[in-house]
Amino acid sequence: MIVLGIESSCDETAAAIVRDDRAILSNVVLSQIDDHRPYGGVVPEIAARSHLSHIDGVVKQAMAEARLSFNDLDAVAATGGPGLIGGVLVGMMTAKAIALVHDLPLIAVNHLEGHALTARLTGDAPFPYLLLLVSGGHCQLLDVVGPGQYTLFGTTVDDAVGEAFDKTAKLLGLPYPGGPAIEAAAVDGDPKRFKLPRPMTGRPGCDFSFSGLKTAVARLVERLGEAPLSHQDISDIAASFQDAAAGALVDRTRNAIQRHVEIHAGIDGAKRTLVTAGGVASNQYLRSALTALAVEEGFHFAAPPPALCTDNAAMIAWAGLERLRLGLTDHLDFAPRPRWPLDSTA
Ligand code: KG4
Ligand code: ZN
Repeated sequence: MIVLGIESSCDETAAAIVRDDRAILSNVVLSQIDDHRPYGGVVPEIAARSHLSHIDGVVKQAMAEARLSFNDLDAVAATGGPGLIGGVLVGMMTAKAIALVHDLPLIAVNHLEGHALTARLTGDAPFPYLLLLVSGGHCQLLDVVGPGQYTLFGTTVDDAVGEAFDKTAKLLGLPYPGGPAIEAAAVDGDPKRFKLPRPMTGRPGCDFSFSGLKTAVARLVERLGEAPLSHQDISDIAASFQDAAAGALVDRTRNAIQRHVEIHAGIDGAKRTLVTAGGVASNQYLRSALTALAVEEGFHFAAPPPALCTDNAAMIAWAGLERLRLGLTDHLDFAPRPRWPLDSTA
């Protein structure tokens, strides 16, 4: 089976082709970062227009790099939400047109399911597994039983962790997007110089909160005075922030591990797996902290390579392929969904 995937829900215009033996035949990602940087964040109208200008070329390039024609495909999948509606419409209409003209099944993929299943494209993650999904818009712990089968263990009560990285970077005068900038600045910083709060830590449950951490950084920057922050101050704050954010994520994930083990008590302990995904999962400091947690708890740890943690279309093609195997295809009148939770009962 060969599936074309299209992603356009935020600021990447992307198309990719994957095969059921987990080969990625092409993976084209056109970032709009330069278009949005002057505004310090994604501007929805600019994003939608840019997707429209580039989507045909990106799909064409993905087909050419895979050396395939549309007749070689078994299905076409596109992000159907959640995300910025203008962009989702562009990708979805493109997929519908291809499906209609070439008589292919259409699969509307939940962007979060794309992130959730990527670890199965790039490594071994047998169902059921525990997922820490950390991106710019979402911060969730989910029990993943199979495609379309998710139980929400916890979510953020305010900001997503990626948002906290982006806002902290702004406070430190680092460029957009903030996550990679904070990680780079933290490399020669001292994570112990400033004691920042780790919201929710030690409390029962699996929910997150990051607005207090962001506010603490704002206060700290004020307290350090009127003069511009020194290079060392910026590095030390970035490192301290990253340490606090990773600490909070690890604490909540530890509680979720207990819950996962209770729910799946009958499952072979040797197969227990912790997966992380989403843009923030490309952060090496967080990956190390989660690896240590997994070792402590007797879990395997699986995370896609960093380039497949941030938004891409290979994850959409793969989720489409997993759904196609189960016969989960969609109609051509599928309506894009700006909001679309993975666990509809939560
Ligand atoms: O999954 P993603 O590419 O887009 C969404 O679906 O939101 O995630 C983007 C988020 C941004 O907040 C970005 O700052 C963050 O992921 N991010 C990182 C890193 N790379 C991207 N956060 C921390 N460390 C990184 N290396
Ligand atoms: Zn994403």
